[in-house]
Amino acid sequence: MENFDFHVTTDIRFGKDRLAELPEVLNQFGKKVLIVYGGGSIKKIGLYDKVMEQLKANGNEVFELAGVEPNPRVETVRRGADICRKEKVDVVLAVGGGSTIDCAKVVAAATKFDGDAWDLVLQRRKYTGGALPLVTILTLAATGSEMNSGAVISNLDTHQKLGTGSKAMLPKVSFLDPQNTFSVNKYQTAAGSADIMSHLIENYFKQTEGTDVQDSVSEGLMRSVIKNCPIALKYPEDYDARANLMWASTLALNGLTGNGKPGAWSCHPMEHELSAFYDITHGVGLAILTPRWMEYALNDETVDKFASFAWNVWGVEERVPMMAARMGIQKLYDYFKACGIPMTLPEVGIEEEKFDEMAKQAVAHSTIKTDAFVPLDEAAVKAIYTACLTESSFD
Ligand code: NZQ
Ligand code: ZN
Repeated sequence: MENFDFHVTTDIRFGKDRLAELPEVLNQFGKKVLIVYGGGSIKKIGLYDKVMEQLKANGNEVFELAGVEPNPRVETVRRGADICRKEKVDVVLAVGGGSTIDCAKVVAAATKFDGDAWDLVLQRRKYTGGALPLVTILTLAATGSEMNSGAVISNLDTHQKLGTGSKAMLPKVSFLDPQNTFSVNKYQTAAGSADIMSHLIENYFKQTEGTDVQDSVSEGLMRSVIKNCPIALKYPEDYDARANLMWASTLALNGLTGNGKPGAWSCHPMEHELSAFYDITHGVGLAILTPRWMEYALNDETVDKFASFAWNVWGVEERVPMMAARMGIQKLYDYFKACGIPMTLPEVGIEEEKFDEMAKQAVAHSTIKTDAFVPLDEAAVKAIYTACLTESSFD
């Protein structure tokens, strides 16, 4: 295990009906609030009205940044930062999924940044400036953005979707009420769960030796997602299923399973190009790519890790490691399919015409060529994209 810091200070308020705590939380930071939200789901579920009621009773001065897109755009970040500067906003309140929270993070930082918001994003993880305090109310279990310092912003003009982040962007407080995810539809529930699975898988498949704690936590979280996503799909208002998905989302990407295990992620850099060029749902892109990446990465050197994945996550009984490994990959593929995720790229409108360009960008925007579990050059990325054109069979 490598050295690491773990200092994730987000104050988590998990559970039912805790919005009465919002005024006290916001008052720590000031009275002028920018509320950030997406395309209207929070109005449909009545959450917007509940939040506004609290803010009104608390005497907050409220400004709004509405219409944050899935795969949030830099233009929206600029709009939000302009409001914060002009109105001297004290605190940003994000109410929504990962896109809303990510947008709010970069709004909070861009307000303090002397330059254009896209230049801030281009600093990637090196931004050391300040940010307005951020409070979040999560409505979709997926990204872990509610308890991490990362954000992913898209620039559709340049076909770039880039991760950025800094300590200053870590949410101060996050409200996690599973009831707020009852209304998430089947497609987004499955996609969100695939994203959680992917975060765990990305951290699990690293070359670092001796990480039993991180890997056992990951295996347990994966089993929890595998169990609870189908329940949430069938019974959207099953509180415990939604609660387990929500807490898994948070723990999958707050450092718990990844710290001490350096190295590049493999599927996220490939997926970010799919959504940069085709604006697809992040979790769906990951579900399509991951089993094909696994097949590419499986070899005599990596087989032990894949066999552990099959045995400990899927309960595969086959004891021959290579055979078990292949069965584990097949289980993952079948699971995503059973959750209703389209499992080929053409089904989400992607054909091979841009594979070369996307493969080039995936390598250029990350360190997968040198630091991934199995190094991936442009030819490898293209081969993985190509394998996603048709249905697959692994065992
Ligand atoms: O926009 P609204 O109307 O709110 O609708 C959203 C959106 O259409 C809807 N939704 C959210 N909560 C709902 C709901 N619909 C009904 N009921 C609710 N309670 O779901 C749709 C998708 O929302 P979005 O926020 O885009 O989803 P998600 O949470 O999956 O976020 C995806 C974004 O996060 C980035 C992704 O790349 C993508 O841009 N990521 C962020 C990470 C991070 N900050 O750590 C890590 C991830 O790997 C990921 O890259
Ligand atoms: Zn993700």
